[in-house]
Amino acid sequence: METVSRVLHWASEQLSQAGVENPSVDAERLVQHVLGAPRLDLYLNPDRPLTPSESARLRDALRQRCSRIPLQHLTGETEFWSLPFFVNDAVLIPRPETESLVEAVLAQLRDIPHPRIVDIGTGSGCIAVSLAHERPEGLVVATDLSPAALRVARANVLRNKVHVRLVAGDLIEPFGPSVQFDAIVSNPPYIRREGIETLQPEVRDHEPRLALDGGEDGFSVHRRLVACAGRHLRPGGWLALEVGWWQIGAVVKMLRGSEDFETVTRYKDLTGIERVAVARRR
Ligand SMILES: C[S@@+](CC[C@H](N)C(=O)[O-])C[C@H]1O[C@@H](n2cnc3c(N)ncnc32)[C@H](O)[C@@H]1O
Repeated sequence: METVSRVLHWASEQLSQAGVENPSVDAERLVQHVLGAPRLDLYLNPDRPLTPSESARLRDALRQRCSRIPLQHLTGETEFWSLPFFVNDAVLIPRPETESLVEAVLAQLRDIPHPRIVDIGTGSGCIAVSLAHERPEGLVVATDLSPAALRVARANVLRNKVHVRLVAGDLIEPFGPSVQFDAIVSNPPYIRREGIETLQPEVRDHEPRLALDGGEDGFSVHRRLVACAGRHLRPGGWLALEVGWWQIGAVVKMLRGSEDFETVTRYKDLTGIERVAVARRR
């Protein structure tokens, strides 16, 4: 008979053989997902038998995860900033390191009443929704080039009961020259085009190219943002950018080299790696 403890062990072994990075964590999540049970229940009721339908659904989910479909695509959701987010293959799965970008922006805007913020390349909407959650009195706008991503972002805005205006378009182009913000925030695509093929299968084969591809050298979207952001920031406003771990020095140099910006600050993620650059508009 298949019991919770047996399937946990068996699923973890299968995932490990398939090269999945954290097999026991993913085994737990898949069993939780299929049973609709909190994690603690798995350990309080290890001898609970699975029904034939639960067993079949677990095998199916396991087969898909072993073929390296991301766990979050199978469960359909993830958590960011302690809020729930729908995800699918139209959006980048929110990463924990992006929370340091949200923290950096909130810190700069602490003393600004009713801040006007735009999130460029919003994907799932994780940054915009988190900012709107923390500063509900402000105005949060978010853009993306992908209509499919914007549909996911809209679902997440509704799910989290926040106000975010979503706009389709290229970077900050949807806004006229007179529109100015207190902060422009972005986690742009920053993988070198050639490097995409070397990423793990979950990312390479299942996350959108548009969310990954940073052009020949990985800096093409950062470069465009640094060039156009100044026009849409009020004097003293902030441009906050997430960067790849190898990019911080080059992006800080890019910002210092721009006539639009001064005082560039670097922020670390939870693992101590510098992943965010924030520049102040002159
Ligand atoms: C790295 S993902 C970040 C998604 C989300 N903000 C996050 O942090 O999880 C980059 C996003 O930028 C969008 N994007 C790429 N090029 C763009 C452009 N030129 N204008 C607007 N959005 C763009 C992609 O569709 C993708 O959703």
